[in-house]
Amino acid sequence: MKLWDIYATMKQDVSYIEKQLERSIATDLRTLNDASLQLLKAGGKRIRPVFVLLAGKFGTYDLERLKYVAVPLELIHMASLVHDDVIDDADMRRGQLTVKAKWDNRVAMYTGDYIYGQALVLATELQEPQIHRILSKAMVQMCIGEMEQIRDFFNTSQSERQYLLRIRRKTALLIAISCQLGAIASGATAAIGRQLYRFGYNVGMAFQIRDDVLDLTGTEAQLGKPPGNDIRQGNLTLPVIYALEETGRRQALLRDIEHIRSMNGHTDVSSILHNIRDSAGIRRAEQLAERYINKAIQALEQLPDIRARKNLRDIAYFIANRSH
Ligand code: IPE
Ligand code: IPE
Ligand code: MG
Ligand code: MG
Repeated sequence: MKLWDIYATMKQDVSYIEKQLERSIATDLRTLNDASLQLLKAGGKRIRPVFVLLAGKFGTYDLERLKYVAVPLELIHMASLVHDDVIDDADMRRGQLTVKAKWDNRVAMYTGDYIYGQALVLATELQEPQIHRILSKAMVQMCIGEMEQIRDFFNTSQSERQYLLRIRRKTALLIAISCQLGAIASGATAAIGRQLYRFGYNVGMAFQIRDDVLDLTGTEAQLGKPPGNDIRQGNLTLPVIYALEETGRRQALLRDIEHIRSMNGHTDVSSILHNIRDSAGIRRAEQLAERYINKAIQALEQLPDIRARKNLRDIAYFIANRSH
């Protein structure tokens, strides 16, 4: 099943959220307006707001309440991407120029901050400190995760566990709380909220592992950006960590990684990509992603059997198999 087929069952509500997203960042200040719209208009899967809406089906579904978490969650995600593209020195995202490429790093930093700010403005419409606390804690963890990634750049002795802790913070928690906050905002029971969190967390882990695999195996057409970005900047992802464990490959990999570092990433990475693709690293990472997907499905089994549960399951499988 395609993601869009799943979304089709909730088309009206998804397009309502889309309109609210546009409204939430509109401003008279031309550059800020255009820079904020740049990423929004480029598309994206809108997975986080969709998770909010689906989770909201497990309580009393009220779009007028849910929008105050669905929109902020996509905004927080977007703001993190605007900043991430500065850190990663990335020129393309979602097949379009990034804010930092079309304008510059200064504009990107404030555009990201502005979008974060608007997320908070909207979230406070719901006068529920618990929701604000969960959102702000997740933002803190995302920053820590991104900083850990900077700390671990080019660290060829990092462990699988270090990688998993890092992606838990930078990616999985935001997806977990998208599910949890949908439940809380709709007044679902705490037990349902916990299961949805568990679902989102495991999907989020699989999501980032898959994203990291794709960065090594995908094509520019599939990804909307050139492959090998992570390794070029020194971000050693799970398949690389696994490949480094293979004694026959380790020396060549260490040499290539050192070369990339000495060239500040301005070098052809096709031979190292080749080496990693040939290793067992890709398959092992995919297997781990699959284990997370299975755990996510298990979490769903504890939930009432409503249509949203089937939709969540379909999205989890889509993520497991996605190619972009
Ligand atoms: C990209 O997230 C960054 C990661 C956390 C892997 P998405 O894959 O959800 O990005 P968009 O919103 O669809 O572009
Ligand atoms: C995206 O991370 C940003 C966050 C998860 C905060 P990545 O750098 O791994 O993702 P892409 O590949 O740029 O989308
Ligand atoms: Mg990054
Ligand atoms: Mg990036």
